[in-house]
Amino acid sequence: MILEARNLRKRYRSRGRVVEAVRGVSLTLARGEVLAFLGPNGAGKTTTIKMISGLIVPDAGEVRIEGENPHANPRVLARVGSVLEGNRNLYWRLTPMENLEYFGVLKGLSPAEARRRGLALLERFGLMEKKGALVQQLSRGMQQKLAIAVALVHTPALLLLDEPTLGLDVEAAASVQTLIREIAAEGQAILLTTHQLDVAEALSDRVVIIQKGRIVAEERTEALIERFSGDFYEIELAEAVDASRAGRLSALGAWVEDGVVRYRGEARGLWAVLEVLRGMTLVRVERDKADLTEVFLKLIAEGSDVGTVSQ
Ligand SMILES: Nc1ncnc2c1ncn2[C@@H]1O[C@H](COP(=O)(O)OP(=O)(O)OP(=O)(O)O)[C@@H](O)[C@H]1O
Ligand SMILES: [Mg+2]
Repeated sequence: MILEARNLRKRYRSRGRVVEAVRGVSLTLARGEVLAFLGPNGAGKTTTIKMISGLIVPDAGEVRIEGENPHANPRVLARVGSVLEGNRNLYWRLTPMENLEYFGVLKGLSPAEARRRGLALLERFGLMEKKGALVQQLSRGMQQKLAIAVALVHTPALLLLDEPTLGLDVEAAASVQTLIREIAAEGQAILLTTHQLDVAEALSDRVVIIQKGRIVAEERTEALIERFSGDFYEIELAEAVDASRAGRLSALGAWVEDGVVRYRGEARGLWAVLEVLRGMTLVRVERDKADLTEVFLKLIAEGSDVGTVSQ
């Protein structure tokens, strides 16, 4: 396992109030796996990621990165790359190349290695022409790509991305998504938070949903969507269904509505329905399929009776 986080807890105290931000979160991540870590605002995602990246110390629980505890042995953090909320891993008065060299050396590369890796990443992220401009003069999307490049400069085993596509235009977001997929394909493990559930659905192998500091769902992305998908099919035809066929359809539990044949039942039963329609021109056969947004909203609604703040 690249990452094993067990039973993490964190409470914040501010102005006499105690906020239980994270209340017993466990996460694992294998090589090449993309985990979407989802939850409403204030659920505890960033706090969890900060504990994993060694930025804040958990009140309880343990983090292991490739078997080692980063809080006891900070050198382990050289195997982690992170992009946290708001691009704070860049120096705005330096150039992209200088940032890559600086952080590369900081994470243990020789200056020559940092330069070589940095150039390769600039090329790959389409930032070559900006290599000598100041970071503060780059567009937001370019800064975001550079932040990810800097997180990758030392080839970490684990990449933590907190809202990597926030505020990016459609094209920049799509190119960041492609990069994330490629990085995972090279074997790096990626923990990703996002409120863009279509991004999570497209990128993740597994989903963990956190609400009020607790995990309320954990499942493979495909299986989760499947579990919430209906058993309802629609068959659209180029011509009207005649009365004799309509009768045979109704014997199978299918019916015609607005010129579309509808059937609710098991996938196997669909063949009998299609058999009745043999010879007709099909336009579309479609199953009602949930998307991650629907699934997320249902799970969050179910979990909303969980208590939140203790004083
Ligand atoms: N430094 C802090 N001091 C006090 N409370 C904090 C601090 N940081 C976070 N919190 C509180 O901890 C809880 C979890 O916050 P966190 O930032 O982890 O949520 P999140 O899931 O990342 O939310 P978002 O989706 O809005 O980024 C919130 O109630 C937040 O107000
Ligand atoms: Mg956050």
